[in-house]
Amino acid sequence: MTASKTILVTGACGWLGTAIVQALLARGDRVVAIDLAVSQAMALQASRQPRLVTAAVDLGEWHAVLRTVQTLRPDAVIHAAAVVGVVQAADIPLKALRVNVEGTINLFEAMRLSGVRRVVHLSTEETYGDFQSAVIDEEHPQKPTSVYGLTKLAAEHYGRVYSRDHGLECINVRTCWVYGPHLPRLRMPRTFIEAALRGEPFHQPDGGNLAVDQVYIDDTVAGVLLALDKRQHRFDAYNVATGVAPTLRDTADAVNRAIPGAQITVGDTGPYHHGGRVLSAAKGALDISRARTELGYQPRFDLQTGIEATIAATRAAMAKTSA
Ligand SMILES: NC(=O)c1ccc[n+]([C@@H]2O[C@H](COP(=O)([O-])OP(=O)(O)OC[C@H]3O[C@@H](n4cnc5c(N)ncnc54)[C@H](O)[C@@H]3O)[C@@H](O)[C@H]2O)c1
Repeated sequence: MTASKTILVTGACGWLGTAIVQALLARGDRVVAIDLAVSQAMALQASRQPRLVTAAVDLGEWHAVLRTVQTLRPDAVIHAAAVVGVVQAADIPLKALRVNVEGTINLFEAMRLSGVRRVVHLSTEETYGDFQSAVIDEEHPQKPTSVYGLTKLAAEHYGRVYSRDHGLECINVRTCWVYGPHLPRLRMPRTFIEAALRGEPFHQPDGGNLAVDQVYIDDTVAGVLLALDKRQHRFDAYNVATGVAPTLRDTADAVNRAIPGAQITVGDTGPYHHGGRVLSAAKGALDISRARTELGYQPRFDLQTGIEATIAATRAAMAKTSA
């Protein structure tokens, strides 16, 4: 695909969705941005940017989804809407099923009936469940251990059925723990960085040895656009991360190195629990060879540079709120 297409982005006002919309606009594409509600910032941007159209659409509302896809007839879709996160999905499992699975089916059906072929689905390493080795590729068994992973895997599999039976092209970008400015969830490295910038010590008691691939938001967005643009896919899934897995203690050390006087420590009294209460699957690094070879994906941020970019943006945001 070349630039100047019309791309429908679901979950467009979410964290990754917003970044994807900005990246598409920056390169000259037209964007149909849909979400449960349109953020003020995006509505304002749409009033000034003729290549941006916004709509409040609940993916659970079949008629609204069909009407949107039929009327605006995008060239392709980036599907970022979901109930996101292991803890959130565990807390509202039925809603997670409705949004992540039923909402995805509504989208695929609307695409089928409207003749829209390609969708890039933002999937996750949670679909793999417990990593069986330190580095895993896309052929690793997918045996999710979380409600979140289960729903995202179901969405992937529906995509395979729609590809086989209806000629859709459902491409799954499996990214890992994405971090960067304005991360909407209270998890590391955000918690580490915010404490350090406030000049407060922070101690996380467990999970210090959990090694997990952490990818800076710009790299995930770049991988999604490369998957969108690839003319012909030989595969329907790509790991898009960094290929290395720093431990949570390494992440704390990166923050300590970047902020003079920071005192961020991570203990190892037990395994890591998401949100302090939902046991994490065994993690590791995602082998990104396929994305490198097939898509030309090359992550630009290692942990230290990504942490430093996040700190700079967080510092600026904190200064703005205290001004
Ligand atoms: N952030 C990460 O670390 C990460 C990692 C792997 C995969 N992903 C995937 O990336 C995508 C975006 O994640 P994010 O971090 O931006 O999350 P987010 O919560 O910021 O964004 C999700 C968006 O989906 C929208 N949404 C929820 N229910 C909807 C519905 N019924 N109809 C329409 N829109 C609805 C929300 O309003 C929200 O704006 C998700 O599919 C997620 O599974 C994220």
